[in-house]
This record gives sequence, C-alpha cells and structure tokens, in this order.
Amino acid sequence: MKAIGISGSPRAKGNTEYLVDFVLSKLSAKGVDTELITLSDKSIAPCKACYHCVKEKGCSTKDDFQAIFAKMCSADALVIGSPVHHAGIAGKLKGLLDRTGFVSRWIGSEMKRADENYQWKGTALSRKILAPITVARRTGHTFALAQLLLWGTVNDLIIVSADYWPMALAGTAGAVDAESDREGLTIMEHLADNIYFLLEKLQK
Ligand SMILES: Cc1cc2nc3c(=O)[nH]c(=O)nc-3n(C[C@H](O)[C@H](O)[C@H](O)COP(=O)(O)O)c2cc1C
Repeated sequence: MKAIGISGSPRAKGNTEYLVDFVLSKLSAKGVDTELITLSDKSIAPCKACYHCVKEKGCSTKDDFQAIFAKMCSADALVIGSPVHHAGIAGKLKGLLDRTGFVSRWIGSEMKRADENYQWKGTALSRKILAPITVARRTGHTFALAQLLLWGTVNDLIIVSADYWPMALAGTAGAVDAESDREGLTIMEHLADNIYFLLEKLQK
C-alpha cells in the first residue's frame, strides 16, 4: 500500500506541508509506504493546451511534472493539500492537476471526431484514492476544496472523506501554526483512518 502526499503550497515547510505530512505520518504508523512531495521546490508550468498528450500520451512540457506524475501513477492513495489563495487552490498545483488530468485521461482514452460521442475508458488514475485537504487563514476553503473534489471526480478517483470537511485554519500574517488548529488535526486524523480503511478494503 503506497500513499503519496502532495503539498501544493509554493512555500516550503508551511501549513499545507505540515498537514499533508501529518496525514502521511498516521498512515506510515499503520505500515503504509508514504512519500511527501512538495511543489515548493519544483518547476511545474501551467498546461499550455497543446493537446500533445491526446496522441502522445505524455506532456510536451518537460519539467518536474514527469517525475511527479510517475509517482502519482505508482501510488494507491493521493493526499493532495492546497493553501487557499484568493479563494482557490494555489497556481502551481493547478498546473500539476490540469496536466495530470489530461495526460492520465488520454492514456486511457481516444480523442473522437466532433460527430462522435466520447467513450471514456478510465484514466491512469482510475480507482486511486484521493484525500483532499485545504488550509486558509480565514475563508475560501470551500471553493478550493470543490476544485480538488471536481478534479478527482472527473478523473475516476475514489474520494475519501472525514467526519468534517478536511480543512484547517492557519497562517495569520504568514504564521506556520497549523498544529494549533486542534479540531483541524482531529479531522486530519480521521481522514487518515478512513484512507487506511479504504486502502485495506481495496487490497482484497
Ligand atoms: C497569495 C495568497 C493568497 C491568499 N488567499 C487567501 C484567501 O483567499 N483566504 C484565506 O483565508 N487565506 C488566504 N491566504 C492565506 C493562506 O491560505 C494561509 O496563510 C495558509 O496557511 C498558507 O499555507 P502555506 O503555509 O502552506 O503556504 C493567502 C495567502 C497567499 C500567499
């Protein structure tokens, strides 16, 4: 069982990274193989909508995307966290998710002619578990969480939930203080329990 955590913040060692790592540590304690990827030190361009991936099944832009995509494909569960930036997910993460979504779709499916209906045949991420997390100083979580959920539900992932929305409050004046959000951490703990519950079920 392998879980990859992606911290979508451009900031290293910030609140997003803390929360994603917190969830991974709970999984690791149960014997899951985990790896944390932070986008803070990665070069990820936005999708340039060249449609190269439709035929070539890979992305034409060469940067850190390829290595991260390979790791995502090798995982059973993806824990994806984003800080809320102007009521949405962070820009670099958006670039990663756009490119991952399109490449994984065209790996599984064919582009049809304009007069044909699409017949989707799954994606490279089909039936992997997605656990989304958002963190904000004050507000905008729901739009950011919706972006992550919509990305997961169009790409054939299985969404895992918790006993409250998987959100935390942190970062006033740039503080790295997610560990002070006690309620947030209990939600993250429950999220980790549910990821493990599902991972075990899906192994059978
Ligand atoms: C460019 C930018 C935009 C932000 N927009 C919001 C926002 O819309 N709502 C909010 O509550 N906090 C906002 N914040 C605060 C961050 O969401 C908050 O500090 C978060 O904890 C940062 O996570 P990080 O430490 O992983 O980067 C913003 C921060 C930045 C840098």
